[in-house]
Order: sequence, then structure tokens, then C-alpha cells
Amino acid sequence: MKVLVIGGGGREHAVCLALSRSPRVDALLCAPGNGGIARVARCFPQVKASDVDAIVRLARDERVDFVVVTPDDPLALGCVDRLEAEGIPAFGPTQQAAQMESSKIFSKRLMQKYGIPTARCEVFTDCGAALAYLDGQQAPIVVKADGLALGKGVVVAQTLDEARDAVRAMMLDGRFGASGARVLIEECMTGREVTVLCFCDGHTIRPMPASQDHKRAYDGDLGPNTGGMGAIAPSPLYTPEIAARVEREILRPTLAAMNAEGIAFKGVLYVGLMLTPEGPKVVEYNARFGDPETQALLPLLDSDLMAIFQAVRDGQLAQADIRWRDESAACVVLASGGYPGKYASGKEIAGLDAAEALGATVYHAGTREQDGRYYTAGGRVLGVTAVAPTLRRALQDAYAAAERISFNGMMMRRDIGARDV
Ligand code: AMP
Ligand code: GLY
Repeated sequence: MKVLVIGGGGREHAVCLALSRSPRVDALLCAPGNGGIARVARCFPQVKASDVDAIVRLARDERVDFVVVTPDDPLALGCVDRLEAEGIPAFGPTQQAAQMESSKIFSKRLMQKYGIPTARCEVFTDCGAALAYLDGQQAPIVVKADGLALGKGVVVAQTLDEARDAVRAMMLDGRFGASGARVLIEECMTGREVTVLCFCDGHTIRPMPASQDHKRAYDGDLGPNTGGMGAIAPSPLYTPEIAARVEREILRPTLAAMNAEGIAFKGVLYVGLMLTPEGPKVVEYNARFGDPETQALLPLLDSDLMAIFQAVRDGQLAQADIRWRDESAACVVLASGGYPGKYASGKEIAGLDAAEALGATVYHAGTREQDGRYYTAGGRVLGVTAVAPTLRRALQDAYAAAERISFNGMMMRRDIGARDV
């Protein structure tokens, strides 16, 4: 088969690498791709992941047999609907199903209606009403913009003044564009966070091993929120007891709720959980693989990813062969100095071969290749993943490999997984 993957981050590199090992895949294309993906797929840097017209045109011109739509933007824009309407099979939820991520109000109402455990929450379309509501609340409290906002539409406010500023920034200053026209004000939950990615074909939901992201920029979970600075899998916090409870109280009810609403969700459902003192609760759903969770998870997959994607798309997930290695994986992200704020690009990267010679896999997130050399081209630049029999060993190996890599201003967290070994 000729397969096209949409996206150009570390997550897409991990997906492309897994697909390149599938006996079903003869030719692999990626749009836009990046410097590292170019080693396993033919890249189309001029085709942006958010340009659905260009994606459909590329899929048609190249006569691809299957498209994997990974990032949130094209899913929310209906990329899968458009491809399927053209007769091109595609992996990923439809625009309607992608609302699980693209509208926090949509997913919150679903959880409320079907009794799925989550933070208590009120929705506001009027800034005055939101501010008046805050007068009767206590901090800490959480303010969220409704729509996609590059992960920046959530403010965990430590004071009511901070919450008021967030409401004004979203609703009056339009800092998040249309995303902020409606806001949610939520109870602040406490507890550790775990990610459960699930394959879902509309009838069957099959969770992957749980993973843990590290969202804050600096060690000790300090600093601003980022796209994710590292991940481990499987999560040691996710005991068999918790897994059984999540399956019973959250995963099955979520599938039933979507079905009751007439939403056939096909793709990866990202369930972000908080393990609160009252039990596991949903922080958010996303309609796709997580980044960098995927860079820790897919190296543990012992089955053919392409066969799984086809089974999901065809509604045959119950029969799919999905086996995971009984090992642990750790992914350490190397970022540009200044990320998630302003950062420089175009810095030459050294030590990639030395890192891989140690047995690690180096996923490219923001890189550019020129004449055989690699240069930084984004905030998150690389993700270094190691797999080992224990989490402790996987972390040691990932850090040993990461130490071999350098570029001007390189930044990494030194404590990925450290709380859990
Ligand atoms: P989200 O974009 O919904 O994933 O939110 C980003 C981060 O904000 C989450 O990973 C949590 O760390 C935090 N967060 C979101 N909602 C809540 C909440 N209700 N209580 C506490 N923390 C939250
Ligand atoms: N790792 C967080 C996300 O993919 O949304």
C-alpha cells in the first residue's frame, strides 16, 4: 500500500517509523514531514497539516491508498470526511467526532449528561456573567477557552484576580480568537495525571498501556506549560485496580455516550485523567495520539500498526492483533532555549549518530536537513526514546543518549520519570 501520514512532529516521526516496518506498507509519504521523517518517508514540506484542500489534492495526485491524519487541526477541519468523500480511506475521527477535542464544551456536556467523572464546571458566553460567577468562587480555579488554542487555552488560576484576568483575556481581548468566545470555569482538581490512549472503531475501545507526559517546562514541574517535555510508558501509577476502575467508570461509558449521541468515533481517543482523592476523573479528551506520549508508546508495540489502523477504519478492531512488549520506555525531549516562549532556530545539531549508536531512537520534532546536516527548526527539536526491561534502565539509557546530542541553547528536563522510579 501507498500510505500518506499528515503532520510533521515527533509523534508523526514515531508513527512513520512504525508504519515503515509494516509488511503492508510499500511506500510512505508524509506532509509536511521534517528532517528526520525524510529518512523513512517522502516528505512534502510545502503541504501544511492545516491545509485540507492541499492534503486532499496530494492524496489524489499521488494516488495513495490510505491516509493517516494525526494532528488536531486537520481533524477539526474535517480532513477525514473530505478524504473519505473522495473515496480515499483515512484513519482518524470525522469532524463531528473530533469535537471531543475541538470543543471543550461539547465534551464537558457529554460527560455531564452521561455521568462520566470530571471536574464540576459552568459555561459562559458573556464576560460579565463569568466575572460575576467568579465573585462567588474560591481559588484555585480553572479557566478554559472552548476551542483549540495550541494547548494555551487553559489557566489554572491561583487567585481569583488571576482567574478574572484570564476570563478578560479570552473573552474581551480575543487572545485566542474564536476559541475564547465561550469559556468554561472549572473546579480545580488535584492529583497525578495519566494519559490513556485508546484505539476506537465506533464499536470497540481498546486502551494502550497508560503513559505520563511532563507538561511543565522546567524540573520539578515548574514553569510554563509546554507541548510536553518527556514521557514514560507504561505508567507505574496506573495499577490494575485503577485500570479496571477507569475501564468501568470512564472508557466504556465514554464509548456508550458517543454511541448514544450518534457519534461513531474512529481513531485514537486520548483520555487525559487525573487520579484525584475521589478516584480517576477526566481532565480532557483529545481526538488523536498524544505528543510525546506516542514516542514512548509505539516503540513498545509488538504488532503491525498499519493493520491496526485499517482495522479501526473498517470497524474490525475487536479482531485486531494488538500486543505490547513487557518492557518500559522513556522519552526525553530536547528543546530550543526559550521554549515555550521565543526561541532561535537554525542551530546545527551534533551527536545524532552517537545517540542512536547507544540503541536509543531519536525522533525528530522540529528539524531541517540540509546536505546531510541537521538544524533546529522548532521549539521541541528532538525526542530521545529508550526501551528497557525496567523504567529505571529506560530512563538511564534515554538520558545517556540525550547527553550525546548538543546544539546551541539546548534545553531538557533532567527529571523525566524521576518521581516514579
Ligand atoms: P487541558 O488543555 O485541558 O489538558 O489542560 C492542560 C492542563 O491544565 C492539564 O494537563 C492539567 O494539568 C491542567 N488542568 C486542566 N483542567 C484542570 C482542572 N479542572 N483541575 C486541575 N488542573 C487542570
Ligand atoms: N501530550 C499532550 C497532548 O498531546 O495533548
